[in-house]
Amino acid sequence: MVVATDVDKVSILGKESIHCGFHLIPYIANTVITTLPSSTYVLITDTNVGSFHLSAFESEFDQTVSKLPEKGRSRFLSFVIPPGETSKSREGKASIEDFLLLHRCTRDTVILALGGGVIGDLVGFVAATFMRGVRFVQIPTTLLAMVDSSVGGKTAIDTPLGKNLIGAFWQPEYIFIDASFLETLPAREFSNGMAEVVKTAAIWNEDEFTALESRSASLFSAIQTPSTNFAGRTKTTRSAAQKLLLSIIVGSISVKAHIVTVDERETGLRNLVNFGHTIGHAIEAVLTPSMLHGECVSVGMILEAEVARSMGVFGQVGVGRLTRCLKAYNLPVSLTDPRITTLPASKLLTVERLLDIMKVDKKNSGTQKKIVILNRIGKTYEEKATNVSDEIIAKILSDAARVVPGIPTKNPVRMATPGSKSISNRVLLLAALGSGTCRLKNLLHSDDTQVMMSALMDLKGASFSWEDGGETLVVKGGGGSLFVPPSGKEIYLGNAGTAARFLTTVCTLVQPSADSSAKATVITGNARMKQRPIGPLVTALRANGTVIDYLEGEGCLPLSIAPDGLKGGRIQLAASVSSQYVSSILLCAPYAAEPVTLELTGGQVISQPYIDMTIAMMRTFGVEVVREKDADGKLLDVYSIPKTTYKNPEAYNIESDASSATYPLAIAAITGTTCTIENIGSESLQGDARFAKEVLERMGCVVVQTATETTVTGPPKGQLKAPGYIDMEPMTDAFLTASVLAAVSTGPGSVEGNVTRIQGIANQRVKECNRIQAMIDQLAKFGIETKELDDGLEIYGKPIPELKENVSVHCYDDHRVAMAFSVLASVVRGTILEEKRCVEKTWPNWWDDLENKIGIKVEGVDLAGTVESTASPSGTVSKDPSASVVVLGMRGSGKSFIGEMAASALAWPFIDADVYFAEKHQTGVREFVHKHGWTAFRAAETEILKELLVTYPSGHILSLGGGIVETPEAREHLKEYAKKGPVVHIVREIDEVVKYLGEETARPAYGEPVTDVFRRREPWFTECCNYEFVNYTGVLTASINGYASTPVEQNGGDYIPSRTSSVRGEVSRFFGHITGHKPNLAPNLAADKRSYFLSLTYPDVTPALPYIEELTTGVDAVELRVDLLRSPKDVGSLNSYIPPAAYVAEQVAALRKKTSLPIVFTARTVSQGGSFPDTDEKAAFELFNLALRLGVEYVDVEISWSEKQIKNLSARKGNSQIITSWHDWSGKMKWNSIEVKDKYDSAARLGDVVKIVGKATCLEDNFALYEFVSRMRARPNPKPFIAINMGIEGQMSRILNSSFSPVTHPLVPSRAAPGQLSFVQIQTALHLIGQLPTRRFFIFGHPIAHSMSPTLHNTGFEALGLPYKYEVLETADVGEEIKFAIASPDFGGASVTIPFKLDIIPLLDALSPEAEAIGAVNTVIPRARNGSHILYGDNTDWLGIRECIRTRLPSSILKPEAALIIGAGGTSRAAIYALQNLGVPRIYLFNRTRSSAQALVDAFPNAHIELVDELGKWPDNGPAPSVIISTVPASATSTDSSTEGLYLPSTIFAPEGGVVIDMAYKPAMTPLLTLAASTPSRKKWNSVKGVEVLLEQGYRQFELWTGRQCPKKVVSQKVWEKYNA
Ligand SMILES: NC(=O)c1ccc[n+]([C@@H]2O[C@H](COP(=O)([O-])OP(=O)(O)OC[C@H]3O[C@@H](n4cnc5c(N)ncnc54)[C@H](O)[C@@H]3O)[C@@H](O)[C@H]2O)c1
Repeated sequence: MVVATDVDKVSILGKESIHCGFHLIPYIANTVITTLPSSTYVLITDTNVGSFHLSAFESEFDQTVSKLPEKGRSRFLSFVIPPGETSKSREGKASIEDFLLLHRCTRDTVILALGGGVIGDLVGFVAATFMRGVRFVQIPTTLLAMVDSSVGGKTAIDTPLGKNLIGAFWQPEYIFIDASFLETLPAREFSNGMAEVVKTAAIWNEDEFTALESRSASLFSAIQTPSTNFAGRTKTTRSAAQKLLLSIIVGSISVKAHIVTVDERETGLRNLVNFGHTIGHAIEAVLTPSMLHGECVSVGMILEAEVARSMGVFGQVGVGRLTRCLKAYNLPVSLTDPRITTLPASKLLTVERLLDIMKVDKKNSGTQKKIVILNRIGKTYEEKATNVSDEIIAKILSDAARVVPGIPTKNPVRMATPGSKSISNRVLLLAALGSGTCRLKNLLHSDDTQVMMSALMDLKGASFSWEDGGETLVVKGGGGSLFVPPSGKEIYLGNAGTAARFLTTVCTLVQPSADSSAKATVITGNARMKQRPIGPLVTALRANGTVIDYLEGEGCLPLSIAPDGLKGGRIQLAASVSSQYVSSILLCAPYAAEPVTLELTGGQVISQPYIDMTIAMMRTFGVEVVREKDADGKLLDVYSIPKTTYKNPEAYNIESDASSATYPLAIAAITGTTCTIENIGSESLQGDARFAKEVLERMGCVVVQTATETTVTGPPKGQLKAPGYIDMEPMTDAFLTASVLAAVSTGPGSVEGNVTRIQGIANQRVKECNRIQAMIDQLAKFGIETKELDDGLEIYGKPIPELKENVSVHCYDDHRVAMAFSVLASVVRGTILEEKRCVEKTWPNWWDDLENKIGIKVEGVDLAGTVESTASPSGTVSKDPSASVVVLGMRGSGKSFIGEMAASALAWPFIDADVYFAEKHQTGVREFVHKHGWTAFRAAETEILKELLVTYPSGHILSLGGGIVETPEAREHLKEYAKKGPVVHIVREIDEVVKYLGEETARPAYGEPVTDVFRRREPWFTECCNYEFVNYTGVLTASINGYASTPVEQNGGDYIPSRTSSVRGEVSRFFGHITGHKPNLAPNLAADKRSYFLSLTYPDVTPALPYIEELTTGVDAVELRVDLLRSPKDVGSLNSYIPPAAYVAEQVAALRKKTSLPIVFTARTVSQGGSFPDTDEKAAFELFNLALRLGVEYVDVEISWSEKQIKNLSARKGNSQIITSWHDWSGKMKWNSIEVKDKYDSAARLGDVVKIVGKATCLEDNFALYEFVSRMRARPNPKPFIAINMGIEGQMSRILNSSFSPVTHPLVPSRAAPGQLSFVQIQTALHLIGQLPTRRFFIFGHPIAHSMSPTLHNTGFEALGLPYKYEVLETADVGEEIKFAIASPDFGGASVTIPFKLDIIPLLDALSPEAEAIGAVNTVIPRARNGSHILYGDNTDWLGIRECIRTRLPSSILKPEAALIIGAGGTSRAAIYALQNLGVPRIYLFNRTRSSAQALVDAFPNAHIELVDELGKWPDNGPAPSVIISTVPASATSTDSSTEGLYLPSTIFAPEGGVVIDMAYKPAMTPLLTLAASTPSRKKWNSVKGVEVLLEQGYRQFELWTGRQCPKKVVSQKVWEKYNA
């Protein structure tokens, strides 16, 4: 039997194929089987929908099929796939196709798509191509699918590169819309679909829109109350709500069907359905999948409506209606909706980005963007999308506005302002409480009235509808009957203060709802609302017997109000805070159980005009309030209100807002032009109407006011006069406007001191913000001084040109602050009004009116995209590597020591300002101060600073006294310089400074404790310097450097750097990096080789430092996990944590002492798997800035932080790099999703290195990652990309990742992330999978049987886990064996030693410049060049020598003045080259055979080499050498003049000390070194043995072959062991 079913049919493309109704399953089965005969019906659905509805379909189809003749009876199959967008993929399509093929489906198959848009699009596309196209039927189950995706025949799947990119037009045979499916649909999905419904009505049908506007509650009830017994299947069983729902759906579908029929392939008209989609899609691209399509389109519709409004073709009334309507369906309407702002991805919603995404839109023609522009509700501006400039879109999207100063082009201006907020709110309440229908005209469409209307609807107090295209609001009053909303439903008032005050008393009138369990009405608001006072009103109502509870803070919202009615009688109210309390009780009083006598207590009553306004309006609605008088006829603050009901007048015309009118009038005043405001005059109900007469006139304007109009003409620009005292008690809201005018009131006739004293406005402290404070703070930004008074403020005006420009005004989300400062902005250049949307409260289209009606241009400013250009507190903007470096610091901080070392490292001259001072003034600093005093000294010192900066702008190290920061002038010069070049603060522990100063006398004593001086100067140092060099010498480093002076032999022969040499290393790293001479970046990262960093996960890194070399074996950088650091007092803290900056700086400094590897500075947030609080952006960026100040090379910044902050940081990064990172711990992130691509794009845009970390749940996740990485790599100029999957399943990705793979080490206590591997493990794995082939290395020479090199290199290879082997190849000559070795494909490199260093050269393809200069090769490296392999010859001998000199030179010698080389063989050539490179000015050369010595002199024409005839006697009486290098065999030397060998006299060792190197390997202690040790000398001579040089050059060789630092400690230990054995 066919079940009786009523369906509405809609025709599309000439066929009535859309059938709509309720509970259609039997109807569907019957229709399909009878009209689409087939051998096989296949229903495809997703698991969600299937769980609710599949069985019903199965049984219905089975039943219907069973009635068919048995022979050739059709099959019914079903296939269920996972829900969600990811199914709409190539894989998803393939799985369905495979199912169909497996079940031998043929061309006659009919496919049924049961589900949302995902199922519809996917299954439709399968049907379009399966067997070249089969018939299919759409059975949409989401509202979106019903009204949109199922209609029109568009089918598609997504690809990783974008949504819906592959598809076809394929029309279904039927579309069955069964609205009862919506009963199981989640509410959010319903709202999602409503966005499309509202959109369609908005472009096409105003009646439909009006129905949607007013019927949201019924529509929700239709889907929320389950229909029993198939109610709705027939018309007779259909509820009113069901009828409404169906009519809305059918209406929407009909529009779409019509458009599709007219324009099936989407050429013109069909574009109209894209209203809201141009911007909406861009938003969706950023926020998907967190926000749904309809939600993004909802925001897009409002923004596009605003575009239309700003073009002047669409009115605010329309924007307001659209906003309210979307809100009624729980849809977001702005990008500041909390559902959006709480998403990390919302940070990526910058104007630039959105515009960029919009570039790619099907509607665009070329670069021109197109938007569907509304003309009015129900009609578009053109019958197609309209061209819109980027400038307009940017303006609308921007969160801030910049007003361009000028004379209003529309002068004389004539305009009306929006309806009064006070009157709108009052009249809404009066009409709602009244009986009968009232038509309201000129109602303000604002947040406040919106909130008031929604609340009254929630309370079932009235119903609202619109006429005249929304110009008129029809209120059907409820006569005072109000009901408690259902339990759980709170009345949300945002920050609408008036609504909150009024509704508090209204809620006391509420009666319990018969059909609800709710016991009380709850009203609540946003965070600011929850701070605004309501106490006095609640106290008065409670005293009258109403039960009201504070649900959070005492005295503020949220409130819970019992529905017991208002008792009435005598009510006492303190009325000195807000007149709105008074109005609230007055307005509700007629509905109290007894007539009310309201007595205002507490002395002064605030804002009497507003009370008078309320009373006047109540009179219009038929209620007479009597204000009582005393015996003398004096008015009392006592009011009597009768018990009655309001009688609604037929119509009410709302006066324009007088507070709003103050802004255009003030613009006329400040710009010297004329403005007329219609609809506000002397008869106005509003106090602020007096502003023109009582304030502007007194400031020198000409004011003409009629009963209904006000005209103001300002004096010529700059001539406003300061009026002195003004009482603004009657017009408190207008005080902000008066204040900005007062700021520039200095014209003739001004009160002396240009003062304007505004009083009577104490209540303004508790408005949207503390407005008095707000004005004081924001005016100060313009350089305006003010003074706060008890009940107001004083403002001291300045001439306009003296005001500061380019001010960014914070608006506190307060409309009046924003509008008042836009008045000032009309004469002060560059003013930015942050949070421009706050004007929506009372004048939503203020910015449009400012531009279109007044004629002052407004531009959009994207604060997220602007980079502050102020002096950088860290890093430097400059990239000029030649800019001189200024160093400064406290006396005793070591700035001369560090400065001179820096000078030597950069090979720049060093200038000490003290010395310069003494030379210039012919007197020392101490005497100067003694004679002329401190003030004169500071002045002279500042002059010297200026002189130095001008005279030596580049190529110098300028060291300054610490006191330089004491004078503001000097600080300004330093800050200015910091914009161009490095200004380095040398920091040392204050205790050490004190200790040091005890010994030093060259400078005048401070005359106060050093610690006090330090504390005073510290902030100045921070302010003036862009870098900080930490020269910690004491406590912290003692533990690390404790063994610094241990002799070499006692450490297994290994050389241990002294403190000086580690400082020297750090100085050269730091200054090399910050100047850009030698940025300390990881070369393997840029070179696209494999690179690694070690994650240090310690709470304190110092205990790990003795092992740092082992820990960092093989890696390219160390990562300091700052979020895991814990200062000693917080060691136990497991929660999210912000380490103190000083502690972080110490940790970096300590690490620096022990490793010169670049540091990666990471503060991982909790949500991304770390321990840094997610919400403390400020603290995070303070730390990042600190890192840049400390010269840290890489800073890891999560892209969830705000783009503005990241850009600011990046602007200061100098030579450091920013790693922009994103970590997803959930395991939900799919590497082939658009989400990841978006993350990559924003990270790549903001950073130098991109890091994206996901989580693998299976091996395949790593392939997806690899595929994504390959795609990104293939782009032009790709950035280094760290792509990792966490988890054990993700280990594969750690092996394959090539840039900066984070690694751990067996000695590190905890891994930074699950699945992390060690460097050695990764090398092993790479080898096993064929990514790291075996290589052979050799040493060529003879005799070499005892060479240390195999031990050296093989130990290193082993420590790094490299599959390499180093062998001895001893041959008589450079012959076939060597040729064969170097030609073999697994040749990794070779060391070349005596006697082949020259003979090898003909076999090589290229030489390094060093090898060329020295004329010898000791290292062969196979290299790839232009696709083929070449052999490259280098020389590391000189590097070994240089390193030994650099690190072993005593600290007393900053730069050697002379050096001696003994011997003139091949090694001497390397020695000369090393000394030359170190910049040693004089090189003495001694050799027994003078001719070979002369040959060397000739070979190095640029080196200053002087021949020595007798050791100990230096040519031209030159300085004694502080570096001595012997290259002759030890056996050939002697310390005894009577023996054969070369005599070495002890006089070669000067008393100043130095470094002596003997290149001979055996014995360890050669005669030369023995002599050095035994010669008494004032300062120390450090000895370097031949093996040490061998080691140093071997380390370089190792680096050249492997690209990795050699693990020196283990290597040297093994070599010494072998040597000593
Ligand atoms: N072809 C077109 O013209 C067109 C137009 C608009 C959107 N689309 C596409 O539509 C897709 C989005 O469609 P959607 O919003 O329907 O999403 P959807 O298909 O993913 O459905 C949303 C969720 O609701 C569940 N669901 C569906 N019906 C249900 C029901 N009755 N009861 C309980 N749960 C139910 C689904 O399982 C899913 O989890 C997108 O892929 C979009 O590109 C296509």
